[in-house]
Amino acid sequence: MSDLKLHHNRVAKHISSLPKSGIRDFFDLVNSMDNVISLGIGEPDFIAPWHIREATIYALERGHTSYTSNLGLLSLREEICNYLDKNYNLDFSADSECIVTVGVSEALDLILRAIINPGDEIIYHEPCYVSYESEIRMAHGIPVVVETKEEYDFSLYPDDLRTKITPKTKAIILNFPCNPTGATLSDDQLKEIAQIAIENDLIVITDEIYSELTYDGEHTSIATLPEMKDRTVFLHGFSKAYAMTGFRIGYACGPEDLIDAMMKIHQYSMLCASILAQEAALEALINGETEMLKMKDEYCERRNVIVKGLNEIGLKCFKPKGAFYVFPNITSTGLTSVEFATQLLNKKQVAVVPGTAFGQCGEGFVRCAYAASIDDIKIALKKIQEFCDELK
Ligand SMILES: Cc1ncc(COP(=O)(O)O)c(C=O)c1O
Repeated sequence: MSDLKLHHNRVAKHISSLPKSGIRDFFDLVNSMDNVISLGIGEPDFIAPWHIREATIYALERGHTSYTSNLGLLSLREEICNYLDKNYNLDFSADSECIVTVGVSEALDLILRAIINPGDEIIYHEPCYVSYESEIRMAHGIPVVVETKEEYDFSLYPDDLRTKITPKTKAIILNFPCNPTGATLSDDQLKEIAQIAIENDLIVITDEIYSELTYDGEHTSIATLPEMKDRTVFLHGFSKAYAMTGFRIGYACGPEDLIDAMMKIHQYSMLCASILAQEAALEALINGETEMLKMKDEYCERRNVIVKGLNEIGLKCFKPKGAFYVFPNITSTGLTSVEFATQLLNKKQVAVVPGTAFGQCGEGFVRCAYAASIDDIKIALKKIQEFCDELK
């Protein structure tokens, strides 16, 4: 230990009080074991399609190693806006309403920092993606949870949302299709949620990172509803549908004043997303549809197998319409979520994530990602069956 006098409380209070992600502890354990079948990681098991990797290599060969405009390459922003127009019926200006970010993760951080004054309340639905609560806290906001429930297939009930609104509410975060439940919203729910946002003058931050992976029916963005475009920030990226997690590339589109505020933070903290990742994203948008749809078909087939298998075992779960997760109820085993996941891992070498990693209301559930091959899913189901039988 050096003799230097160190400042007490070196870490800021709002950071030292942040919980560590429950998933990380669990995966440290998974990584220390051999021959585990993982239904745990929320990441495609596919590697990014070859043409995307090739375009990245080619960009490097041509010496594309510089910074780009802070907002991102204009050609990429134009292609993003074309893509959203064609596939989402959304009309954004590439010049002023679109910013390229280091994944949806950075886009979420930027919008929260851009809008929150200390003490503002931000509502989000739980069980949810692990970052929302901490991202809100890091931006000095107050996270307010609205629970989604199993009896409604984890959809967000507008009346439940209404009860959480106070004069301090600034924004709502939506994530449909949802991580970890796979839940989606009906058109009526979307309309009612939009109405609530309009009545209460709220900003809607919509994380639609799984939207291409919608298997039944069409995906509709809340930003397309009347009067919503001016109050909605649409977050999207390439990690999931294009299997490009490691490229770290995403974007936000929304009203000019909010994109401009996000841009200020981005230019000082990040400068720009990597040019190579931007070139890869451009290739994904221009030529990536066929490969993306192939992966989507494969996820859909896996979803059908895993939902049927889990229900046959007696671990009840609804058939989610999107993303690549199922969220079975494990209370029939008499175990808590953490006990179930830990014992299943130790006894059968199958990794699933305890539902509580996604919020307290995830107790009684586990998340299984079907970002694994059909063969592995079938073996995992067999082992889960054995595990449950041995508990009886
Ligand atoms: C709902 C949701 N939003 C955002 C992210 C992070 O995405 P990105 O890789 O674009 O930062 C994830 C990753 O798992 C996610 O599930």
